[in-house]
Amino acid sequence: MKDVNAEKAHDTTHGELHAELAGKFDTTAMATDTTLLNPRFYTTDFDEMDRIDVTPVRAEWDVLIAQMKSDPNKGHFKKNADWDHVDWAGMEPHLRAEFIDFLVSSCTAEFSGCVLYKEMKRRGNNPDICELFNYMARDEARHAGFINDALREAGVAVNLGFLTKAKKYTYFRPKFIYYATYLSEKIGYARYITIYRHLEAHPEHRFHPIFKWFREWCNDEFSHGEAFALLMRTDPKLTTTWANKLWIRFFLTAVYSTMWVRDHARKDFHEALGVDIDWYDQEVYRKTSAIARQVFPVELDIDHPRWIPGLRRMNAAMLDMEAGRKTGGIKGRLTNAWGTLRALTAFASLYLIPVKHTTPPASVRLEPAY
Ligand SMILES: [Fe+2]
Ligand SMILES: [Fe+2]
Repeated sequence: MKDVNAEKAHDTTHGELHAELAGKFDTTAMATDTTLLNPRFYTTDFDEMDRIDVTPVRAEWDVLIAQMKSDPNKGHFKKNADWDHVDWAGMEPHLRAEFIDFLVSSCTAEFSGCVLYKEMKRRGNNPDICELFNYMARDEARHAGFINDALREAGVAVNLGFLTKAKKYTYFRPKFIYYATYLSEKIGYARYITIYRHLEAHPEHRFHPIFKWFREWCNDEFSHGEAFALLMRTDPKLTTTWANKLWIRFFLTAVYSTMWVRDHARKDFHEALGVDIDWYDQEVYRKTSAIARQVFPVELDIDHPRWIPGLRRMNAAMLDMEAGRKTGGIKGRLTNAWGTLRALTAFASLYLIPVKHTTPPASVRLEPAY
């Protein structure tokens, strides 16, 4: 009898907590909102992508596709005994807010990949391309679903079906999709493995079980990145012309600096993980840059004396932009405009830091090594 009552009381508090959190965090709205920093949804010229001929990289392609087909992570994204109880009610409110924000942002990014890859598979006729995008959409759906399960435990799951219809899509021509998606897959790998290794050494900081899943998870992202590296290799112009090298440099600067600003908005989250954000971001850039030598002929100089100060200025400027946007009115607009100007200047200064030139190896394929 006692147990039933205790269970009832537990259910009530559980229900109350869910209602409280759902009132505070409209996660579907958070995911739908299109700001400079939120993960976006993309669309592209699917017909052009469908015309890719993978013959020049056939040998490496077949090995990668066979590996994806074997589906090594088929049973991985399921809660099991390793999924310890999460004390959402007892979590410090700031940390909880930042952690939910982290999960929503990660879920949106994963789902963004799923939507794009699925659409390519749906529209394509090229069997090589369709097969690849089918496997990648499968993986990203699992990733997004698994994060959403974690959010569901707090009563704040994202409505992914609604998101597909309501979120704005950004058009990128295929070559920009290759640069941006290649980078986000490899950066995703570097982010997940760096957190995983850190928590392996400091398990006392693992405040949520989801981090235990990151090792196998990041291998999926690694393979996705490999696929884009191969796709870029099918057309050498993509990585060798003067103009395209400038584009690669642009995407590297944009993706790295966005990550810096996003991470620095989550102080309590990183403190709970015992991670120094400056260290973590530099570490992720270092790993990503080392991997990207497989295909990119230029690399950002993240040890340059202007690099970190430039990122800090960009972060401060973007905080002002956001504050101005929230304030509204003439004063808010002026604050926003001044912040925008400073953010652009900071971005230009980062972009103009001399890059390192490298020569990608003859064979593109890599295996996860961290
Ligand atoms: Fe993913
Ligand atoms: Fe991925």
